[in-house]
Amino acid sequence: MKTRWYKDAVIYQIYPRSFCDSNGDGIGDLQGIISKLDYIKSLGVDAVWLSPIYKSPNDDNGYDISDYRDIQEDFGTLDDFKELVKGLHDRGLKLIMDLVVNHTSDEHMWFKESRKSKDNPYRDYYFWRKGKSDKKPPNNWMSNFVGPAWEYDKTTDEYYLHLFSKKQPDLNWDNPKVRQEVIDICNYWFELGVDGFRCDVITYISKEKGLPDGSFKEFFSSMPLLGFTHYCMGPNYHKYIHELNLHAFSKYDTMTVGEASGITYKDAFESIDENVQELDSVFTFEHVSADMILQVFPKKLNFVKFKKILTHWQELPKTSQPTMFLENHDQPRSWPRFVNYCWDNKEKAAKMLLVAMQMQRGTPYIYEGQEIGMTNVNFKVEDYKDILTTNVFKKVGNNKLLMKFAQKVFLKRARDHARTPMQWDDTKNAGFTSGEPWMMVNPNYTEVNVKQSEKDPNSILNFYKKFLAFRKGKDVIISGDYIPYYEKNKKLFVYNRKLKDKAYFVICNFVNKDVKFKLPKDMKFASAKVAISNYEDGEIGALESRIIKPFEATVYEVQY
Ligand code: NOJ
Repeated sequence: MKTRWYKDAVIYQIYPRSFCDSNGDGIGDLQGIISKLDYIKSLGVDAVWLSPIYKSPNDDNGYDISDYRDIQEDFGTLDDFKELVKGLHDRGLKLIMDLVVNHTSDEHMWFKESRKSKDNPYRDYYFWRKGKSDKKPPNNWMSNFVGPAWEYDKTTDEYYLHLFSKKQPDLNWDNPKVRQEVIDICNYWFELGVDGFRCDVITYISKEKGLPDGSFKEFFSSMPLLGFTHYCMGPNYHKYIHELNLHAFSKYDTMTVGEASGITYKDAFESIDENVQELDSVFTFEHVSADMILQVFPKKLNFVKFKKILTHWQELPKTSQPTMFLENHDQPRSWPRFVNYCWDNKEKAAKMLLVAMQMQRGTPYIYEGQEIGMTNVNFKVEDYKDILTTNVFKKVGNNKLLMKFAQKVFLKRARDHARTPMQWDDTKNAGFTSGEPWMMVNPNYTEVNVKQSEKDPNSILNFYKKFLAFRKGKDVIISGDYIPYYEKNKKLFVYNRKLKDKAYFVICNFVNKDVKFKLPKDMKFASAKVAISNYEDGEIGALESRIIKPFEATVYEVQY
């Protein structure tokens, strides 16, 4: 039976490699996470989403799985996993695992078998095709990680499809045996106590019949990659997810969130409407593209567009659940990105971003380190670890100009910014490991760390705790209407959350300056008092007509 617990839940994402290392090998692990469960609980979150912890050769840090039923050795054992589940559940926290089933690792037994011969029973688990007569790949699709999406394999003189790295071959979901394997994997983890899944690139699982060539128009689609429109939201997406729901997701009190890059509003609703039994929610990415050209090149945040996108997803019918996030393991850090790289007044800005996002309707996500204001790093070329970045450098390395440009882009955009070790204290390696960390620690750890933040009553961390405690259990926030105001305003994000005769009126200032504010004409109410703010009570004026302070976020409780 589904209780839909995610409707009033805040989810904390952990990137296990970078969270806490218990054994000094420089890599975060399950015992490390277990040692921090009280910290996680103290935040006031309700669930933890773990990026993949399954066996993997780590070509893409675990998003390339070689055994879906076992734990990556660097992270620990199945017994550690069971201890983690118990530790979470004992504290009333749920566990969401990453379900990476668009592709496997090329070291998965299925793929190893599949590549042996054309008549191997596992051959059809993947996409194997003859090349074009002129020794070219079967079609012109591009990999999300640079280069063609096909790799030639001489054993059988055919190519296999990989939308990510060549060590991540795509599974063929049109094969019912593959779908049954996925169902079995889900049920295996549900039986071990997992409460849900974040479904990796789930919109890519159904490919268009015949795998037709992409066209140049696709460079202007929601993902500038040849082939994208032929594998994103393919013909059987809804059918396959529904099947997975019937045979796995719906059998337990679960929640699912699909990583849904490229999904349209209509398709999203058709997939997460409570009445259709597919997913419970999806991550969409348009709002985190409002400061980019062609999804790649950084530019000034288009704030009005950013608000418009968020508002659009807030308009999803109430039988579906939006999600809210600014950070994850694929995104650079949110401060000062979403305040247009204004480096001043950090504490206020980071707190404001929290309120601006989390007063909306939906399930909010916090990414490890966001709660203490971790930031991007001034990486040198040799510091990067991520396969996407290193592939680009390999590709453009010989061209000085392109290399310089790529470096500039990655200093703002690289996924590695989110993957530096968690900053626990100001001791060596930020208290993350007693060994040599697998990736560099952000040198600002001596000032930005959990220990310091816990001590400082005005820290970002303590505001997160206060805000999450405030947010909990409020019907107006869970299901109230969302009414935007001043949509064209370039500095303020203003909206009302209303349910019957009660509302929360939210004013957030995205610039580090005073901004004049007038109450919208249709806002008539009996009383309004400050419910929560990142400024002290005495500093905030009456709602009717006032100046909004630099990076202020104030929520008024309104009675009609
Ligand atoms: C999306 C994940 O978030 C990302 O980290 C990964 O590289 C790709 N999917 C491939 O699994």
